[in-house]
Amino acid sequence: MNMRELALHVLDLVQNAIEAQANQITLEIKEDCTADLLTIQVLDNGHGMSADMVKDVLDPFVTTRITRRIGLGLPLLDMSTGRSGGYLDIQSEPGKGTKITAVYQYSHFDRPPLGDIAATVKTIIALNPELDFRYSHIVRNQVFSVTTSELLAILGDIPLTQPEVLEWLGDYLTVGIANLYGGEKFENC
Ligand SMILES: Nc1ncnc2c1ncn2[C@@H]1O[C@H](COP(=O)(O)OP(=O)(O)OP(=O)(O)O)[C@@H](O)[C@H]1O
Ligand SMILES: [Mg+2]
Repeated sequence: MNMRELALHVLDLVQNAIEAQANQITLEIKEDCTADLLTIQVLDNGHGMSADMVKDVLDPFVTTRITRRIGLGLPLLDMSTGRSGGYLDIQSEPGKGTKITAVYQYSHFDRPPLGDIAATVKTIIALNPELDFRYSHIVRNQVFSVTTSELLAILGDIPLTQPEVLEWLGDYLTVGIANLYGGEKFENC
């Protein structure tokens, strides 16, 4: 398996947080052209991991792990960042939550493209309408953000999962993200 687009890693990170019983998840994507860095951070208030567990999750082939399925999401993200002049950082505290930070050298030849972040955020919200989800995306010094709490406040009694609402949300995200790049498809820092 090769996650060719960073949006797939975003989905995996959010899925991990949901599996960890988080009800608050923050996704921040930062494209810093001056520092030549692309950073993806996912913060959750789930059950967290012990220090041993954090060490363990980056090695998918440790033989002591027989009690559960061998995950590949974090090892693949670790390899992907390392290959692209970046790194993966995991901060976690049992009972409190987890902060995963994936850093890439923006202009690195091996950095995967972001992929369809608008569709990814829409999917996360559509599948988890109860989740307090906050997404912010920074390109240079432009910020675009969407939170489920502000969407719910605007919608009132209309369910977030209504098809018309989701269609509107998809367009809103697509336009908001395109505007970060000055309305054009942004290829290089
Ligand atoms: N946000 C998180 N909070 C608590 N535990 C986490 C979190 N993210 C990952 N973990 C732990 O690390 C393990 C490995 O995660 P990883 O994404 O690599 O694999 P997976 O989710 O188990 O399987 P896969 O992603 O391949 O479907 C998870 O099974 C979980 O136990
Ligand atoms: Mg996973």
